[in-house]
Order: sequence, then structure tokens, then C-alpha cells
Amino acid sequence: MGKSKKPDWRGEVRRVMYEAARAQASADSGFNYRWEHVQAVVVCAVKLAKLTGADCDVVEAAAWLHDIRKETGDRHPKEGGKYARKFLTKTDFPKKKIDAVAAAIEQHMGLWRDTPLTNLEAQVLWDADKLTKIGLTALLHWTGADVLRGRTTTTDDMIARLKSADYRKKTVASMHTQPAKRAAKERFRAYNQFLKKVRRELSADDLFVL
Ligand SMILES: [Fe+2]
Ligand SMILES: [Fe+2]
Repeated sequence: MGKSKKPDWRGEVRRVMYEAARAQASADSGFNYRWEHVQAVVVCAVKLAKLTGADCDVVEAAAWLHDIRKETGDRHPKEGGKYARKFLTKTDFPKKKIDAVAAAIEQHMGLWRDTPLTNLEAQVLWDADKLTKIGLTALLHWTGADVLRGRTTTTDDMIARLKSADYRKKTVASMHTQPAKRAAKERFRAYNQFLKKVRRELSADDLFVL
């Protein structure tokens, strides 16, 4: 009797992450921030892997699973790594690449780094994860989540919350890979530019030609 075929890993990681994100979405506001975030990270990580020569399977699996244990707070990179080791063996994911997936997940902590990561796949995951937190994607994700969860009710409040993400400069400086360094600067500039332009409209300073 032949061995039954293990399920397709791509479908499986997407499915378990979707379920985890639904469970994590507080009081389910209709805007599932975690799911939005993870999808953005996957798109970014896969492209970054192709551009840098990182292993695409490792990076994609790590991107799907990196926040799967987010409910465990600061321990979620470690717990996520553990989860990935166990879970991926139940799928058709290449066995010899599982350690690399877990290692990348274990190292994705922090919004900036004092010492850079040294492994390419871990660098790519870190860069992709943080790229989604410094540009217009972040602006939409955070505002969407805040409004729907009732954390913010005025435009001033939204702007103040967006302005308070002042760690982003350090995030930009912590990027590892060349394409991410460039994109980070561009995203950072676009976010700041947006806030500046909104302030200009709200104060009607745009009525004056400078
Ligand atoms: Fe995370
Ligand atoms: Fe993340």
C-alpha cells in the first residue's frame, strides 16, 4: 500500500494563518488587521526573495507563518518557529528546508535592530515584515483597524496616532537588503508626505501660493 500524499503546503499555511488571524482579530471588527498584514508581508517577501536570491520556499512559508502565534506576545517569534517545525512536517514542504523557515520566524522580532541579522532568508522576512509598517500600507491598516475598533473617532486623533509611530526612522535604518533599503526610504517619505499634506489641507494653507 502506497503512502498517502501529504497536503500542499501553500494551501495549508494560508489556511492555518487565516484561521489564526480570525481568532486573533479582537471582537472581529470586520477589518482583520492580522490577515491584511500577513498578506502584505507575503507579497513583499516573495518579491524580495526573487530580487536577492534568497530561497523562495523558505521565505514564503516563513512569511505566511511568522505571526501565527501572535497571541503569545513577545514570545511569538519563538512560538511561531516551534509551530512551523511541527506543522510543515505534516505537509509536502521540503523537509530539509524546515529548519531555515523556523530560524527566520524566530528572528523576526523588533521594529528596529542594533545588530543586523546574518542569514539571508531571515533578513528578507525581517525586511518584508517591517516594510509593511512604515509606509502607506501601514497608514491604511492602522487607521482602518483603529476606526473599526472604536479606538479613534476624530481626524485629529487619527493623525496624532499616525504621527506617534516615531520608531520608523530606526526601522528604515535597520533594513538589510538593498531593494528593501530603497523601498523603505520611499515608503517613509510617502507616509510623512501624506501627513504633511493633510495638515496643509486642514489648515487651508494650500490656498496660499508659496
Ligand atoms: Fe511578528
Ligand atoms: Fe508581522
